[in-house]
Amino acid sequence: MTKHVVASDDLAMQIGPDSNPIAIFDEWMKEVHLLGLKEPNAMTLATSSPSGEIHARTVLCKSWSEDGLIFFTNYNSQKGHDLAANPYAAAVFFWDALSRQVKVDGTVEKTSRQVSEEYWRSRARESQLSQFVSQQSQPAPSREDLEKLRSEAEAKFHGQEIPCPAHWGGYLLRPKAIEFWLGRPGRLHDRHQFVKSTQHWTYRRLYP
Ligand SMILES: Cc1cc2nc3c(=O)[nH]c(=O)nc-3n(C[C@H](O)[C@H](O)[C@H](O)COP(=O)(O)O)c2cc1C
Repeated sequence: MTKHVVASDDLAMQIGPDSNPIAIFDEWMKEVHLLGLKEPNAMTLATSSPSGEIHARTVLCKSWSEDGLIFFTNYNSQKGHDLAANPYAAAVFFWDALSRQVKVDGTVEKTSRQVSEEYWRSRARESQLSQFVSQQSQPAPSREDLEKLRSEAEAKFHGQEIPCPAHWGGYLLRPKAIEFWLGRPGRLHDRHQFVKSTQHWTYRRLYP
């Protein structure tokens, strides 16, 4: 069963002008992973088309560093088209069990081919096959056709590695702003926002 933890005064006090938001994010991710939640690194990712239509979906944040958050996808998907035209995105994590949310806004760029291929090689063969045949976000034929396509790819690459398609890879969401939200009693929640100016993070507390 999932443990529920309520934000303590101690935790809320730890975040302030001297904090590094990436270090906080790293700490929170460690805590979330300890809770045994399903898909703890799932984030809602919003992108925008050139005409300003917003599209949101869930993706998995596979790694993070001072540079930002990395997720993997099909570059020809709707998000891929949005990001090619408008390389800005917003991501939101919500962990009910911890009563916490993280919002990240920033610019998005493709990861290097090496990063994409390294991650591709770490994936289960079944997942590689599914991604290999997927024309993500395009209209698909029947379920049977999807399974047939996968079986054909399996036969084609029998005994060989499945190559990472050129249209599949990572994106780096480089944060311009990161906000940490902690649910507090009586809805007097804590919001800690960090905005990046050149190489520095500026901190401010926001009204809930
Ligand atoms: C828990 C969960 C995790 C997902 N992770 C990914 C992911 O890491 N990459 C990805 O391309 N799609 C992922 N998806 C599927 C996306 O939500 C979405 O359906 C797909 O990327 C196509 O989105 P688009 O048409 O907006 O580009 C995930 C879905 C769920 C529910």
